[in-house]
Amino acid sequence: MLLSYLVRFLLQILCLALLLGMASCVSVSHQNMPEENSADLGLLKKKCTLCHGLPHPKRHTKEEWGHLITIMTKRMNEKNISNTKEELSKIKSYLQRNAR
Ligand code: HEC
Repeated sequence: MLLSYLVRFLLQILCLALLLGMASCVSVSHQNMPEENSADLGLLKKKCTLCHGLPHPKRHTKEEWGHLITIMTKRMNEKNISNTKEELSKIKSYLQRNAR
């Protein structure tokens, strides 16, 4: 009796953990981004999700974004991912004007 109660209890915890996990995944892919539907955000979504998730501008300060764009440009060149100066400067200014 005690054992079956314990198993049920553990299963309930497992289900709860799974549900919470799914909820947090959903919230990551639907995070609120500034300038919703703008061309610059579209560019960020297109160019900056090829290797990792969509980075939120509030993750870094204006200065940090300056360095990060340089590093990410290197990463893109290493992988032969096409990028133009114009695209990168648009992405950079989007990130910097919405930065932390
Ligand atoms: C070619 C693959 C690639 C592309 C494309 C790419 N990144 Fe990255 N990014 C990486 C890697 C790899 C790291 C891990 C750190 C490192 O090795 O430099 C990273 C780390 C980051 C981080 C790190 C830290 C954090 O806050 O979690 C940010 C921010 C970031 N990238 C932003 C961008 C932005 C903005 C773009 C678009 C301009 C972009 N990335 C495009 C490969 C990429």
